[in-house]
This record gives sequence, structure tokens and C-alpha cells, in this order.
Amino acid sequence: MSQSLLTSSVAASPILDRLARPLGSLRVSVIDRCDLRCAYCMPEEDYAWLPKANMLTFDEIVTAVDAFVAHGVRRIRITGGEPLLRGNLVELVARLAERDGVEDLAMTTNATQLAKWAGLLREAGLQRVTVSLDSLKPARFETLTRRSALDNVLEGIHEAARLDFESLKINTVIMRDFNDDEIPDLVTFGRQIGAEMRFIEYMDVGGATLWSFDRVFSRQDILERLRKSFGPLTIQDHRGAAPAERVILPDGTRVGVIASTTQPFCGSCDRSRLTADGQWFQCLYAQDGINLRPYLRQGGERLSDFIAEVWQGRTDRGAEQRLESPDRGILYEIEELRENPHREMHTRGG
Ligand code: GTP
Ligand code: 5AD
Ligand code: SF4
Repeated sequence: MSQSLLTSSVAASPILDRLARPLGSLRVSVIDRCDLRCAYCMPEEDYAWLPKANMLTFDEIVTAVDAFVAHGVRRIRITGGEPLLRGNLVELVARLAERDGVEDLAMTTNATQLAKWAGLLREAGLQRVTVSLDSLKPARFETLTRRSALDNVLEGIHEAARLDFESLKINTVIMRDFNDDEIPDLVTFGRQIGAEMRFIEYMDVGGATLWSFDRVFSRQDILERLRKSFGPLTIQDHRGAAPAERVILPDGTRVGVIASTTQPFCGSCDRSRLTADGQWFQCLYAQDGINLRPYLRQGGERLSDFIAEVWQGRTDRGAEQRLESPDRGILYEIEELRENPHREMHTRGG
């Protein structure tokens, strides 16, 4: 087969939305369930789960990814809930890794089961791993997640660090008076194991029913804490479409700061999200998604045109709009989340 036929799904020219943002990255949630209950994401006792019959099959996910690649997507991130709870995930990773046009295949995981899977995932072609870890203190970890899984998580992180992933990152949501005192210890931990730490502002996304502005430990607070512990900081320019701003400590250690709440980055946002049941969200804060499942259940016919049409009409800048709202509180009441689980961050994939 000629090269042009082999790469026929790869876009010639990327499409732009109404704010001139290309379609560059797709976050694919493979399951809405999670085995932890982090207070900033899943604080409730019980949840309404997506019906099993609606879960996209691996064939459907691959069809979707091909259609997005045809419009310029090059980066795929597998998310959950907790993605490693999805059966046979290694098989999906292997299939996505060999698609034309997928240049970066990453996963965000809570790492409770990573020790077991990291080697197989790497072999299957997973390039990068990001682990969520919000405390190194066992009692605090358990208070936050309502599970005593810290040892498993640390084992998973160490196993991933041993393998040659192209990058290993650790995401920590910083909440004032809960874990802001751990910033220096987490930096030291990341440095020791060769992982890049990223400190994330607590966001008022769906599911964060305990959110309040006074619990947000802002970018400015984070930088101040880093400066106090480590000395003068160099902040790198040129972050492109990345949510994280890169900060360099005096010894050369690189740390990321994600200021989604106080300094959002919608102007360069090239991300969209596909839920495990095929709803497509153009923004983390979007009220509603667009159901791609009917297209996927018919083998993906007309999907590509539909994606282009929707993206070209996109105007979302949810986090910036939240910043403009004067009496900022939680995004949804619990009843609204129960009625529509697609509003939950754990369904949208973080
Ligand atoms: P890299 O590909 O390594 O740059 O990772 P990433 O920063 O794109 O992905 P990751 O899943 O690690 O994102 C970290 C956190 O940033 C997420 O958990 C969210 O809290 C936040 N975030 C990611 N994407 C968006 C987005 O599109 N909008 C907003 N407001 N926040 C986002
Ligand atoms: N604020 C900030 N980040 C959040 N995440 C989930 N909920 C929130 C929130 N309320 C992100 C975390 C976690 C990832 C899966 O989703 O970064 O690591
Ligand atoms: Fe993108 Fe919406 Fe996040 Fe802004 S809030 S960066 S538009 S996903």
C-alpha cells in the first residue's frame, strides 16, 4: 500500500474553533468507576454509574480516535474514573499505540494497581504516565481518599519510575490547610524518583461539592511556598497548549503549576473529552456533551464530518467564565449531579 493510503486518516490541515484553537488533544475516559473517593472529586457516599450497555467497545474507541486524528488530534490521554479498572486495558493501549497519527499516548491513573500493569502497559506502547497523589502521609491519604491504599500507590509509582516511560508526572491537588504543608516534601519525593511534580489548584468542577474559594491554594501561594523552601524560581515561557506552567528551582528541578481556578488557560485550549459511553465534551465545564455513540455504533460513518462541524462552532471558555462570576460557589448541587452523572469530573476524566 502506498504511504498516502496508509496515512489517509491523518489530517492535512487541522480545523480551528471559533476562537482559532486547533483540535490537538483527546482525553478518552474508559470507565467512570474509581476505587478511591478523593474529597475534591468524589466526596459522596454513592453515585449513579453509567449503564454497562452504553460503554464504548474497544473497536468503537479506536474508530473515534481515528476520526479525531483526521482533524488534527495527535495526543491521546486515557483517563477514568480509574482507567486500570477497565478490563483488558493493555489491549486497548496496544491498539491505540499503533494508530497512524497518534504521536503521544499517555494515561492518568491513581496508581492503586499500577505496580501490576506498568510493565505490560509500557510494552504495549504507553509513552507517558501521570499519577494522582495528594499526600505522602498515610493517615492524611486515607482521610482524603477514604481508602488505605497509599502503599499500593507508592509501589505503583516506583514501578513506573523503574521503567523507561518518556515521562512520569505526579498530580497533586493542593487544598488550603489540608496538604499545602506537603509541597516541599512532594518536590523532594519527585526529585528522588525522577518524576515531575505538578501542583494543581482546587477547581470548582462538577463533583467538587465541598469546594469553596477559601480552600483554593492559589498559583501565587504555591509559588511563594516553593520560593520560601527552595529559593529563587525561574518561570518558563512557551507553554503552548499545556495546562501546566513550568517552574525551575535553583537546583534545576522542574515543577509544574496548574492554575485552572485563578489563572485559567482557555485561550490556548486544544483539548476535548470523550466519556466511556461516547459523550463528547468540548470543555471541562460544559453543561452538556454531544452523543457520538450512535455514530460509533454505526461503524463511524459521517463521524468525521460531524466532529469538524461541531469543533468549528466551539466557543467554550468555561474556566475563564467561572472566573468572571462574582459569587463563585460550587458548580452543581448534589441533586443535579445525581440526575446527570455526565456532569461529574470522574465521568469526564479529570
Ligand atoms: P501533559 O500532557 O503531561 O501536559 O498533561 P496534562 O497537564 O494535559 O494532563 P493532566 O491529566 O495531567 O492534567 C492535569 C490537570 O490539569 C487535570 O487533572 C485538570 O485538573 C487540569 N486540566 C487538564 N486539562 C484541563 C482543561 O482542559 N481545562 C481545565 N480547566 N483544567 C484542565
Ligand atoms: N480540582 C482540581 N483537580 C481535580 N481533579 C479532579 N477533581 C479536581 C478538582 N476538583 C483532577 C486531579 C486528579 C485528576 C484525575 O483530576 O488532578 O489527579
Ligand atoms: Fe479548555 Fe474548558 Fe478547561 Fe478552558 S475550562 S481550558 S476551555 S476545557
